[in-house]
Amino acid sequence: MRHLLRPLDFTTDELERLFDLAGDIEKNPSKYAHMCNGKILATCFYEPSTRTRLSFESAMYGLGGQVLGFSDAGSSSATKGESVSDTIRMISCYADICAMRHPKEGAPMVAATKASIPVINAGDGGHQHPTQTLTDLLTIRSLKGRLNNFTIGLCGDLKFGRTVHSLINALVRYDNVKFIFISPEELKIPEYVKEMLIEMDIPFKEVIRLEEVMPELDLLYMTRVQRERFFNEEDYVRLKDFYILNKEKMELARKDMLVLHPLPRVNEISVEVDEDERAVYFKQVQYGVYVRMALILTLLELV
Ligand code: CP
Repeated sequence: MRHLLRPLDFTTDELERLFDLAGDIEKNPSKYAHMCNGKILATCFYEPSTRTRLSFESAMYGLGGQVLGFSDAGSSSATKGESVSDTIRMISCYADICAMRHPKEGAPMVAATKASIPVINAGDGGHQHPTQTLTDLLTIRSLKGRLNNFTIGLCGDLKFGRTVHSLINALVRYDNVKFIFISPEELKIPEYVKEMLIEMDIPFKEVIRLEEVMPELDLLYMTRVQRERFFNEEDYVRLKDFYILNKEKMELARKDMLVLHPLPRVNEISVEVDEDERAVYFKQVQYGVYVRMALILTLLELV
């Protein structure tokens, strides 16, 4: 039995197979429409979500399976003090596979040690978000045709943004990927990430001004400032609008640069940018469903 807790849980060859499967699902959805008949997905979300939870649910319904779960810790027995370890033992009796989001880093990993079904980390605190990374990689591979030889700018809250930490973890395995970290001083990428890049001899630089590096980028990965991870509201208010990608800034970019964003967006991308064909964050959402369908089939060993 396999789980998905970190992006590195799958080798790059396994990821290739997963992305090929996602591509086939996109082209031939009817071929897969009954593959999960009789199977149940549990979505245990102790933190708010729109995309991750609903895309998992959409994925399972698209495969002919069924879904149960909770979308709010407050409506679960966590409020009575039940541990994640005990909850997953119950869930293992009710479902065949579980996607779990939790504010505590490592909670899905703890669940996996007690589960008798595959557990998928759907985001744990500021740590990792591996299925968002699968979504990001599939989007890049589908729209750029490759997962190597590019410069990616990661912009915004690089301190708390788990999607950024996960994506870097996954991209270091591909050749000739250069990183440019664009953030205010207070939201810089954690030291342990930089240490890893130095150890692996992977080029990166840190800048504060987005305009300065726009012409260098093949990909721009925008992120929102993670309000829920701040200790005080004052700091959040001061930093929340530090970056606003608008038409003017897009003019500095290459004609084939792509803008990704894990969403939700707050103010960091002006809505006027949505019309730009380089803005692919809504396409990214659709890829998220295909890749989660492929992941469910793979973890349930149905392909
Ligand atoms: N990208 C993402 O994780 O979105 P949600 O928080 O809405 O699931």
